Amino acid sequence: MGGETTQPMFWRTVPILLLLAMTGFISEGALCPGKCRCNDTNLSVACTSAALEVIPHQLNPEIRHMDLSNNKISNLYYALSIYENLITLDLSTNNISFLGSDKFQSQRSLQVLNISYNNIEKLKKDSFNGLKAIVKLDLSYNRLERLHNLTFLELHSLQIIILSGNRITHLESGLFKTTKHLKELVLDDNQLLEIPSAVSDAVGLHRLTLSQNLIYSVNIMPNLSELRFLSIDGNVIRDINHTALTGLPSLERLDLSDNNFTNIPTASLAKLSNLTWLKLSGNFVENIPPVAFRGLFQLKYIHLDHLDLLTRIDVRAFVDNINLQHIWLNDNIGMQSIPTRLFHGNPKIVHISMKNNALTTIETTHFPLDQLRLLQLGGNPLECNCSLLWLWHLAQDQKKLPIIQSNHTYEIPSELQIDSRDINCAGPATLLGKQLIDVTESEINCSFSWVVITSAVISVLFVLLILTGLMLWGPLKKTILPGKDLSQGNGTLSCGKAETFEPSRIEKCIVSPPVSHHDYRTLSSWEHYGTEYGNCVSNMNIYEQLDCHLKDRPHIVYV
Ligand SMILES: *[C@@H]1O[C@H](CO)[C@@H](O)[C@H](O)[C@H]1NC(C)=O
Ligand SMILES: *[C@@H]1O[C@H](CO)[C@@H](O)[C@H](O)[C@H]1NC(C)=O
Ligand SMILES: *[C@@H]1O[C@H](CO)[C@@H](O)[C@H](O)[C@H]1NC(C)=O
Ligand SMILES: *[C@@H]1O[C@H](CO)[C@@H](O)[C@H](O)[C@H]1NC(C)=O
Ligand SMILES: *[C@@H]1O[C@H](CO)[C@@H](O)[C@H](O)[C@H]1NC(C)=O
Ligand SMILES: *[C@@H]1O[C@H](CO)[C@@H](O)[C@H](O)[C@H]1NC(C)=O
Ligand SMILES: *[C@@H]1O[C@H](CO)[C@@H](O)[C@H](O)[C@H]1NC(C)=O
Ligand SMILES: *[C@@H]1O[C@H](CO)[C@@H](O)[C@H](O)[C@H]1NC(C)=O
Ligand SMILES: *[C@@H]1O[C@H](CO)[C@@H](O)[C@H](O)[C@H]1NC(C)=O
Ligand SMILES: *[C@@H]1O[C@H](CO)[C@@H](O)[C@H](O)[C@H]1NC(C)=O
Ligand SMILES: *[C@@H]1O[C@H](CO)[C@@H](O)[C@H](O)[C@H]1NC(C)=O
Repeated sequence: MGGETTQPMFWRTVPILLLLAMTGFISEGALCPGKCRCNDTNLSVACTSAALEVIPHQLNPEIRHMDLSNNKISNLYYALSIYENLITLDLSTNNISFLGSDKFQSQRSLQVLNISYNNIEKLKKDSFNGLKAIVKLDLSYNRLERLHNLTFLELHSLQIIILSGNRITHLESGLFKTTKHLKELVLDDNQLLEIPSAVSDAVGLHRLTLSQNLIYSVNIMPNLSELRFLSIDGNVIRDINHTALTGLPSLERLDLSDNNFTNIPTASLAKLSNLTWLKLSGNFVENIPPVAFRGLFQLKYIHLDHLDLLTRIDVRAFVDNINLQHIWLNDNIGMQSIPTRLFHGNPKIVHISMKNNALTTIETTHFPLDQLRLLQLGGNPLECNCSLLWLWHLAQDQKKLPIIQSNHTYEIPSELQIDSRDINCAGPATLLGKQLIDVTESEINCSFSWVVITSAVISVLFVLLILTGLMLWGPLKKTILPGKDLSQGNGTLSCGKAETFEPSRIEKCIVSPPVSHHDYRTLSSWEHYGTEYGNCVSNMNIYEQLDCHLKDRPHIVYV
C-alpha cells in the first residue's frame, strides 16, 4: 500500500525537480540581461548604467542584492514582488516620480533601500508597507515637500533615514512615532524654517543634521537624551533660546557654522556639559568676550574660522575650556593682533591654527610653545623684523625635518611642527614675499643695528682723528708755509680771515659749527635707517636705539 502511494508522488516531483534544475541552470547564465553582472555565489545582480526602463523580471528570484542605479526606470509596477529575498536594493539615479502603494509588500527581508536621485514628489501613507526589516532608507535628492505622518508606520527597524536634498518645509507630527530605533536623521538641504517638532518622537536619535535649511531661530529643541551629534550649519540662525539646549545632555559635537550669529551664544551652549567638538565658523561675530565658552569643560576641538568681522578676542576667552586641545582660528581677515597668553588656561592645547589672519607680528608669549605640537601661521602679513627671530629659528629647525604633508590635522606630530613653507614676509620692503625660512639671520636679526652703532663709533673716531691730525699737522703746515692765509686754502678750516697764525684760533675752529654740522649729517642718515626698521627708534638717539632692541629681543623659548 505504501509503495503504491510513494510511486506516483515520486513521478509527480520529477518534473518539478527538472523545472527547478532548468530554472537554476537558466538563472545562472542565460537570463542575466546583457548589461548586468550576476553572481549566484553571493546572489547579487548589478545592472548599473544599463539604460533599463523597467526592473528586469527574469533574474534569479533568490537574489539578495540588486543594484539598478543609474538607469531610466520610471515605475516599479509589481516587478519587485518576484524577489522576496532582497536584502539591499539600489534604485538611485533613476526617473521614478511616483512610488505608488504597497510596491514593497514582499520585501520583508529588505534592509537597505536607496531611492535617492529620483523625482519623487509624494509618498503615500502605504508606500513603504511591508518593509519590516528595513534599517537604512535613502530618499535624498527627490522632490518631497511633505511627509504623511503614517509614511513610516511599519518601519519598526528603521535606524537611518536620509531625506536631504528635498523641498521639505514641515514634518507632520507623529511621523517618527513608530520608528523607535531611529538613530540617524538627515534633513540637510531642505526648506525647514525651524527645528521640526516631529523629531521629539525619535527619542533614541544619536545624530541629527539640519544643515542648509532656512532655520532662523532655535527656540524649542526637543528633548533628545541620546543625541551625540547635531549640525545646524548653513542656516540663518541669529540666536538660540537660553534653555533650548537643556534637553541634549549627551551632545558631544555641535556644528553651528555659517549662520547669522553676531555673538557667541554663551548661555545656551553652557548647558552642553559633554560637548567636545564645536564649530562656529562663518558667523558675524565681532568679539569673543571673556569666558565665551562657559561651562564647556570637556571641549577638545573648536573651529572659529571665517569670522570676517572678528577683531577682538579677550585674553580670558577660553579659560573655562581646560581640556581644549585643538583650535582653528583661520581666515579671520580682521584679526590684526591676539592677546598674549591667550591660551594660558588651556594646559592640554597641542594644536593652534591661525592661518590667513591679518597678524603683522607674533610673539613667543602668544603660544605655550613647550606643549604645542602643531602651530600653523601661514598666510599672515608678517613684518619680518627681529620680533620674529624666535619663529625664524623654529623654521630653521624644521628645515632639517622631512616635510610632512598631512591633511589630517587631528593627527598631531610627536614634536612641534610649524607650517614654515607657508609663512611669508609682508615687510619690510626688502623681504616682501620672501618665505621666512629663506630669510638670512642678518636680514631678520636686529644685529643690523650693531652695524649702525659700530659705524657711528668709527665715524666719531674718524672725525676725532681728523681733528687731532689737524691739531698736530696744521701748525706744522703753518710753520712750513707761514705766508699763506688759511682761508685761501681748500677751505678746510673756514674760520674766517686770519692774517696770522695763532694756536688759539685752531682750537676755535675745532669747535666751530661746520665741523659739528658734518657730524650731524652723518647721524641723520642713521636715524633714517632707524625709522624705517623699527618703531621704538624714531625719536631716540642711536644708543637708545640699541637699548630698545636689546629690550625687545624676545626670549627664545623654542623646543
Ligand atoms: C561571486 O562572488 C563571490 C563572493 O563575492 C566571488 O568569490 C566570486 O568570484 C564571484 N563570481 C564572479 C563570477 O564574479
Ligand atoms: C558579489 O560579488 C560581486 C562580484 O564579485 C561583487 O561585485 C559584489 O560586490 C558582491 N556583492 C556582495 C553583496 O557581496
Ligand atoms: C522621466 O519621466 C518623465 C515622465 O515621468 C518623462 O517625461 C521624462 O522624459 C523621463 N526622463 C528621462 C531622462 O527618461
Ligand atoms: C544611495 O545612492 C547614492 C547615489 O548612487 C549614493 O551617493 C548614496 O551613498 C547611496 N546611499 C546609501 C545609504 O548607500
Ligand atoms: C497624523 O496627523 C493627524 C492630523 O494631520 C493626526 O490626527 C493624527 O493623530 C496623526 N497620527 C499620528 C500617528 O500621530
Ligand atoms: C524636556 O524635558 C523636561 C523635563 O525633563 C521638560 O520640563 C521639558 O518641557 C521638555 N522639553 C520639551 C521640549 O519637551
Ligand atoms: C525660551 O524658551 C522658554 C521655554 O520654552 C520660553 O518660556 C521662553 O519664552 C523662550 N524665550 C524666548 C526669548 O523666546
Ligand atoms: C558624558 O560623557 C561621558 C564620557 O563620554 C559619559 O560617561 C557620560 O555618560 C556622558 N554624560 C551624559 C549626560 O551623557
Ligand atoms: C543672514 O545673513 C545674511 C548675510 O549677511 C543676510 O543676507 C540675511 O538677511 C540674514 N538673515 C537673517 C534672518 O538675519
Ligand atoms: C591636502 O589637501 C590639498 C588641497 O586640499 C591637496 O592638494 C593635497 O594633495 C592634500 N595632500 C595630501 C597629502 O593629501
Ligand atoms: C616688528 O614689527 C612689528 C609689526 O610692525 C612691530 O609691532 C614690532 O614692534 C617690530 N619689532 C621691532 C623690534 O621693531
